[in-house]
Amino acid sequence: MGKTILVTGGAGFIGNCFCKLILKERPDWKVVNVDCMTYAANPSTIKNEMNDPRYVFYREDIRRRDGIFAIFEKERPGIVVNFAAESHVDRSIENPGVFLETNILGTQVVMDACRMYGVERFHQVGTDEVYGDLPLDRPDLFFREDTPIRTSSPYSTSKAAADLLALAYHRTYGLPVTVSRCSNNYGPYQFPEKLIPLMINNATHDKPLPVYGEGLNVRDWLYVEDHCRGILSVLEKGKVGEVYNLGGHNEKSNIEIVKIILKELGKPESLITFVADRKGHDQRYAIDPSKAMADLGWQPTTMFKDGIRLTIAWYRENADWLDECTSGEYRNYYDKMYGKRSDK
Ligand code: NAD
Ligand code: DAU
Repeated sequence: MGKTILVTGGAGFIGNCFCKLILKERPDWKVVNVDCMTYAANPSTIKNEMNDPRYVFYREDIRRRDGIFAIFEKERPGIVVNFAAESHVDRSIENPGVFLETNILGTQVVMDACRMYGVERFHQVGTDEVYGDLPLDRPDLFFREDTPIRTSSPYSTSKAAADLLALAYHRTYGLPVTVSRCSNNYGPYQFPEKLIPLMINNATHDKPLPVYGEGLNVRDWLYVEDHCRGILSVLEKGKVGEVYNLGGHNEKSNIEIVKIILKELGKPESLITFVADRKGHDQRYAIDPSKAMADLGWQPTTMFKDGIRLTIAWYRENADWLDECTSGEYRNYYDKMYGKRSDK
């Protein structure tokens, strides 16, 4: 057996893709998934891996020091990748507290366990949102690794704090830390509170598509498996103490995305409903990924036009998975978040 890699948040959207990638492409690695299964995790997402002898799942909360230390004591991971987080900006605006607890204090607990038991690498999965936003009328500007941290939402602020804490643990305690900051991901298994799966789900059921403001905000989309390959490249080729931006120069306005989805599903644009804007809404994200490309030899391989088709097809073929996510609590969430965003 080669390495034991401990992944937190491995039942979520990106973490499950990463676990699947490791199981497929690193046949002598063991994957330990630690996830407390919040609303964002659907047990069906990881049901196939559960049968793999190289995969172990612990239902545990990264905020619970005793539980996390006990897992490290037993599994003695060589590599730790921290995906676990509260990840939705809108929820952070409604209820910031849990974002600070999980994203900052939870990260601290995992890093303390890394210090105690010793690891070759602790990797913090970060976001481009830590750089704030760029103006829509300056397409020449991009986020670089040395762009100042300037956050907008409680979510991005909690993620920035976690990145900085990770880098501080490297400098202060010598913990072998790397950080990646990625742009918006899309692909299978994303919880339908996020733009693309929410719009696919609503369009499929002929429900209105709630576009915030005028739909002109721009996001830089990356296929989830490309992100996961980027993280693997950082683990295998990255330098300790460094930050790597991951993105694929694939900027699209929200309204463009929504129209692409409607066209692909054969649904009318009359389903689009412009609703009240997100508070503090970031205008444009755009990553400069040249450092990761030059230093790691990483580059995205899935073109947006292919990735979005694959994604829409996946949601169509996995209607049960979507139904599992949208039953129960999701309805309360949807009513709460969208009920008050009256049409503009
Ligand atoms: P997600 O919400 O789909 O999944 C998060 C996972 O973490 C879930 O399985 C959840 O159960 C688990 N989790 C949450 N709190 C936990 C806790 N206290 N203890 C243990 N597990 C817990 O999120 P995602 O979109 O997969 O994002 C994963 C990571 O990537 C996050 O750190 C996020 O900030 C970062 N990121 C996401 C994107 C994106 O576009 N989605 C882009 C850049 C970075
Ligand atoms: O940039 C990386 C970040 O991307 C990650 O760190 C976050 O975890 C992830 O959630 C994502 O954040 P965004 O806020 O960009 O993603 P979201 O899917 O929530 O929204 C994308 C854009 O779509 C944003 O401009 C808001 C808009 N939007 C979103 C929803 C859910 C709508 O217009 N209507 C909606 O119903």
